[in-house]
Amino acid sequence: MNETEKNRDQHAILEMNKRARDILISNDLGGYSVPNKDVYPFQWNWDSAFVALGFAEFDIDRAWKEIETLFDAQWADGFVPQIIFWQENDGYFPGPDVWQAGKNPATSGITQPPVAASMVRQIWQKDKSKKNQAIVERLFPKIMAWHRWFDKYRDPLRKGLVVATHPWETGRDNAPEWDQPSAAVDISAIGPYERRDTLHLDKKMRPHKQDYDRYVAMIEYGRAQSWDHKIIANEGPFRTVDVGMTMMLIRANKDMLALAEEFGCQKEAVEIKSWIDRAAEGIDYLWNEKIGAFCSRDLISDRSSGIISSATFLCFYADVGSDDQKSQCIKHLKRISLASKFLMPSISPDNPRFDAMRYWRGPVWAVVNYMISQGCMEVGLKDLSQRIKIDTANLIRQSGFYEAFNPQTGEGTGGEDFSWTAAMWLHWAGK
Ligand code: GLC
Repeated sequence: MNETEKNRDQHAILEMNKRARDILISNDLGGYSVPNKDVYPFQWNWDSAFVALGFAEFDIDRAWKEIETLFDAQWADGFVPQIIFWQENDGYFPGPDVWQAGKNPATSGITQPPVAASMVRQIWQKDKSKKNQAIVERLFPKIMAWHRWFDKYRDPLRKGLVVATHPWETGRDNAPEWDQPSAAVDISAIGPYERRDTLHLDKKMRPHKQDYDRYVAMIEYGRAQSWDHKIIANEGPFRTVDVGMTMMLIRANKDMLALAEEFGCQKEAVEIKSWIDRAAEGIDYLWNEKIGAFCSRDLISDRSSGIISSATFLCFYADVGSDDQKSQCIKHLKRISLASKFLMPSISPDNPRFDAMRYWRGPVWAVVNYMISQGCMEVGLKDLSQRIKIDTANLIRQSGFYEAFNPQTGEGTGGEDFSWTAAMWLHWAGK
């Protein structure tokens, strides 16, 4: 690049930074952000954790606020909900009247990937002021309670893994890993309902009707159990060990351990360490020998999905697996990096179920890229880490702050002006 080109590029980046900040500010409904004003008009759990990283780039108080409002909705048993319905809005289905979780504020009855601890540690490392220390000390026991909830309710095998009881808990709603486990869900008794997502977005980017029927049936089941998580996790119609949530929880526990040590919380440190140690061994349950990768595995049928998804590569972020397992995963990652114009497709493009525009069945997601790239960097895969970062930046520069992107053409899919995409630009890809 010559000088003029460099200046022009610098100018374009500054414009993008401004645009990203504007998106976060405009999606801020007062102490919490919506992922996107039309499609997702409430507070979502893991979105808020990532969004906080974006705010931390220009308003650290607002960053903390995002995480604090999320934990304001925590249930007494430590559970932190997937959605918090702070205000009424009829642009989304299923709303609080469908969930009937019986809480104030109204929430859904399922959770989402526990990434909050990791993002709290990131923000804390940015600014260790006395004021921020008080906030971390306030959040720490709340996050601890949430992780204890996972240990108590979602690890029936006692292997340090995470069982999802609804595909939406995984954050990767219609990933092909859920096809087989959710096919067994009985949809014969569901009542009539009207989807709202397809009013805002093109159908070809969204889950199929059959998937939606199953999502609704699973909610109706949970509601019938009055959201008793013990029953749901032991007897529910969908119980699948998700490779993604598992890797993210292991990582979050490692970040919690670092915070516990820094803050002198010895007792908690011992407890967290026991979870990490258990998972370090237990992770073998997800190893698929034939495929040579970590794959989600259905608890009910005791079958491995045999699907390599982007979540597989969070093994570097969690830093688990033997050297041999890691090197087999690296081979897959390299293979996919040759087959995709943009990393990281949400499933391997050679899989017959790959669909470049359909949500979690092909498109690239900036938040997943961020975690994979960070993990790659930490285990010494510097080139791959850099490639994922540059691809993410190029996708956003080419198409805008979309929800996700086509890994072959770079076209945006899903909603526009997405909070977590803007946050990932500010915190990571745009730097
Ligand atoms: C979709 C995504 C989920 C996200 C939510 C809000 O349901 O699959 O991961 O949290 O939208 O952005």
